[in-house]
Order: sequence, then C-alpha cells, then structure tokens
Amino acid sequence: MAIERTFSIIKPDATRRNLTGAVNAVIEKAGLRIVAQKRILLTTAQAETFYAVHRARPFFGDLVAFMTTGPVVVQVLEGEGAIAAYRDVMGATNPANAAEGTIRKLFAESIEANSVHGSDSAENAAVEIAQFFAQNEIVG
Ligand code: CMP
Repeated sequence: MAIERTFSIIKPDATRRNLTGAVNAVIEKAGLRIVAQKRILLTTAQAETFYAVHRARPFFGDLVAFMTTGPVVVQVLEGEGAIAAYRDVMGATNPANAAEGTIRKLFAESIEANSVHGSDSAENAAVEIAQFFAQNEIVG
C-alpha cells in the first residue's frame, strides 16, 4: 500500500482535558507519523470553511461554535494507507458506536465533542492540509 498523508484535528474537548499527548500516543502506536503539528485557536471563519461540506446539516452551527471554544491541534499524519488507517484508529463518529481501543472510544465525550477529526478521502486530505500548512511546514 502507498504512503499517504492525512489531516487530523485534536478537538477542543481533548485539548481542554490535556489529552494531546495521550491522543498522539495512540496515533504513533498505530504506526502513523506526525509530520506536522501546531496548536491554534480556530476563527469562526476558519471553522466554517473547514466544515463547509456540512453547512446544510442541522448540527453545523453548534459544530462551528464548539470548534472555536478552545485550542485545537492541527496535524499532518503520514504512513501506509494513512487515510483509512487513521479512520480506523479514530473509531466511529459517535463514540457510542466506536470500537474498543479507538481514540473516540477512549476519549470522546459525545458525537459532537468526539476528540478528533480525520480526512475521509485523499482529495479532502489534500484540501484540508492546504488550509492549515505550507509545504515547507511538513517534514516527513
Ligand atoms: P468530524 O469527523 O470532524 O466531521 C463532522 C463533525 O460534526 C463530526 O466529526 C462531529 O464532531 C460533528 N457532529 C455533530 N453532530 C453530528 C451528527 N449528528 N452526525 C455527524 N457528525 C456530527
């Protein structure tokens, strides 16, 4: 399988509980490498752009508000089949449905405050990475 890059966000519910290192440990144990990372406070405009695909969904306003309540850690992860591999490690969107050992099963508080985001396709990974990182900030 090819080496891929995917985009990850450690969400405000996780940074608030000081879980950045704990989440990163699960990521690294799964064989993914953190090749870029920064802690930022999203603006409303950045969150709206990032989640634009969900604009028509009933949870959009709450999601944008939640994502701006505290710091997030944006990351680029690299590894074999990284996009699918990270989705496996994250677990289901709703932590009630997430498998044992996944980040969301371990740490998520709710379907909204679900601790992490990961890209769902190679196309979206490229777009999401480009929203937050310049090429020279990603060092594999
Ligand atoms: P994420 O993988 O970042 O993609 C969209 C986000 O919307 C999701 O994780 C959740 O944080 C949030 N969300 C809130 N409610 C729902 C819902 N009912 N279905 C899917 N996602 C939801």
